[in-house]
Amino acid sequence: MEVVKTIHELRQRRRIQGLHKTVGVVPTMGDLHAGHLRLIDRCREQCTFTIATVFVNPLQFGPSEDFASYPRALAKDARELERRDVDLLFAPSLEEMYPDGQFEHATVSVPNLCDELCGANRPRHFDGVTTVVIKLFQITQPDFAFFGEKDWQQLTIIQRMTKQLDIPVEVVGVPTCREADGLAMSSRNRYLSPAERGIAPTLFLTLREIAMNLHEGITTYAELEESATEKLRDAGFKPDYVAIRDPSTLKAPASADGPVRVFGAARLGRARLIDNIGVTR
Ligand code: PAJ
Repeated sequence: MEVVKTIHELRQRRRIQGLHKTVGVVPTMGDLHAGHLRLIDRCREQCTFTIATVFVNPLQFGPSEDFASYPRALAKDARELERRDVDLLFAPSLEEMYPDGQFEHATVSVPNLCDELCGANRPRHFDGVTTVVIKLFQITQPDFAFFGEKDWQQLTIIQRMTKQLDIPVEVVGVPTCREADGLAMSSRNRYLSPAERGIAPTLFLTLREIAMNLHEGITTYAELEESATEKLRDAGFKPDYVAIRDPSTLKAPASADGPVRVFGAARLGRARLIDNIGVTR
């Protein structure tokens, strides 16, 4: 596996390697876990040249968020990716990605979708995500790009951006990878104390309970959301939201049948956990 740190070098490699190959990219912020590695495996199944990117993107962190303390483990990540037969790792510096500084940079924004759910609690977060993702697409020029359903809103926004801006990349969603007790894997789980780690699966279990109710035909959305929020609060979380939404518009479901998705975000100690579950009705 080659490790490339500059855009110029990446473009040179990409030109040679990509000529007769199907190129896939897996963007990450590193500190890789089994959820990230599932995306890598999907990419390798579908593509003949796999690029992983590791870049902790300051643009998507709010001023009081964890950019400075976000876990960084590039050497370990590189070993993991090498073991997984990734062809190329792109790990640029901050200066390489934002040479004019992060506040002077052009941004890309997807209206409406980015104000819902996590957008309401993390203003401008998704503009930071779409901006870095479109840059990574321009740099790596992939045929396919792989994103986790764990961040369903992010996935939906990137799919919409790609379609609306006619970007010739197929964005593929990959199901959420969970711990044995249901907790969605996340780099931020390492912020949890042992006691908090014991409580953390309650987020998934609470969303799953709503999913079961919806599956049975219950449509009292506000009641379900409120009682779940209460349950999370009782368990020790500080909930940001529990919301039943249409999977593509991310707004309240327009009808009493058809697919819906249950979303939840809550703080537990230092960690902000998010999760979501799909429901067919
Ligand atoms: P990061 O949190 O490192 O996640 C990288 C990718 O891994 C995302 O597509 C995310 O949805 C996926 N992922 C994380 N945990 C997962 C899990 N438990 N199961 C399946 N997939 C999982 O998301 C980002 O980085 C950034 O916003 C990024 C897209 C790289 C832009 O900076």
